[in-house]
Amino acid sequence: MTRTIHIALDINGQRHELDLEPRVTLLDALREHLSLTGTKKGCDQGQCGACTCHVDGKRVLSCLTLAAQVEGRAITTIEGIAGDGGDLHPVQAAFIEQDAFQCGYCTPGQIMSAVACIREGHAGSDAEIREYMSGNLCRCGAYNSIVAAVRQAGEVA
Ligand code: FES
Ligand code: FES
Repeated sequence: MTRTIHIALDINGQRHELDLEPRVTLLDALREHLSLTGTKKGCDQGQCGACTCHVDGKRVLSCLTLAAQVEGRAITTIEGIAGDGGDLHPVQAAFIEQDAFQCGYCTPGQIMSAVACIREGHAGSDAEIREYMSGNLCRCGAYNSIVAAVRQAGEVA
């Protein structure tokens, strides 16, 4: 018999109670159990950044984080960063203005990393943005536009 544990997750300000196997990752809890599919699964082994979320305001790779590890912490996903009235977050708006995506698969992770990158004070130059966004891969190669979007959003933050 498969053992499950009961956990409560605080996601985008809402409490969610779940019965999960202890080995379930935050990424699978979001996508498979809560239908929060904005967070993407790319490599599922910590190499691409597509699954980036925030825990207590800091970026984490949700494919390498167990759901049980983040019980009681404030989890933010791409679904939770727009304003209460539905206004786009400045980073989301900048990605649209700079045309910073092609297929869009990496984009939620890029945006979550960019929000943290700016908040960490690491958007001071294109070189710094490239370094601190280097954990987020884009197989479409939209890097120049992504850097431009982070720079634009960083200037207004
Ligand atoms: Fe998590 Fe690739 S899916 S780093
Ligand atoms: Fe396609 Fe980045 S826009 S992977």
